[in-house]
Amino acid sequence: PVTVYPNQDVASIHVANRIASIIREKQAKGETAVLGLATGATPIKVYKELVRLHKEEGLSFKNVVTFNLDEYYPMQPTSPQSYVTFMNKNLFDHVDIPRENINIPDGTLSEDKVQAFCEAYEQKISDFGGIDIQILGIGRTGHIGFNEPGSAPNSGTRLVTLDDLTRRDASHDFGGKENVPTKAITMGVGTIFKAREIILMAWNEKKAEIIKKAVEGEISSEIPATYLQLSDNVEFVLDQGAASLLT
Ligand code: F6R
Repeated sequence: PVTVYPNQDVASIHVANRIASIIREKQAKGETAVLGLATGATPIKVYKELVRLHKEEGLSFKNVVTFNLDEYYPMQPTSPQSYVTFMNKNLFDHVDIPRENINIPDGTLSEDKVQAFCEAYEQKISDFGGIDIQILGIGRTGHIGFNEPGSAPNSGTRLVTLDDLTRRDASHDFGGKENVPTKAITMGVGTIFKAREIILMAWNEKKAEIIKKAVEGEISSEIPATYLQLSDNVEFVLDQGAASLLT
């Protein structure tokens, strides 16, 4: 289903509340909540609201385990552009999540170690019983995670090559496209699909064209987000701008 909110703020609060209610339900049962997390501009206000819920309304992350979708490769965690830095700054530094519960693909590995790491990442997700809720943004190539055009529906966590448009869209953060890594480690489409609940968010007219293709277009590896049409557990959460081309 597609839900259109008047603006990004209201939509982000809705998503944060959904995540908080899963955390609280699990807490009540003495269980762990497993969150699949995204970076980028899109989820920032969701994280902001989760931090507020922690600081002002007692939401605890003690029983939360997180798996991030992706990380650039190669990438040092201390680099300002790393997704480790992003997550610390926007969420983890401000809540009570145990550090050992945080999982982000490792951008520091030598290339011969990457495949074993990716297999272990998949295994760890299933050892925790799978992802309860996965949040996603969408790239202008139609990527989810860094599953660029051509990605298979059953793909797992792996090393991928970033699309030129994706690197161009990231060039501002890196001070020029030539500084954007050409690769990334990403959960696969298949990994994402195993989550019990998936929320894809998109804001602004800038995303309207790709959202139209993702929601209404023919299902194809050319736009990996179209695979989400095949899942019963997906909610597209949009603001009016991102929804503006939907029929
Ligand atoms: C980030 C990720 C990407 C982004 C997408 C949109 O972890 O997996 O798929 O969600 O590139 O990025 P923003 O939100 O910056 O428009």
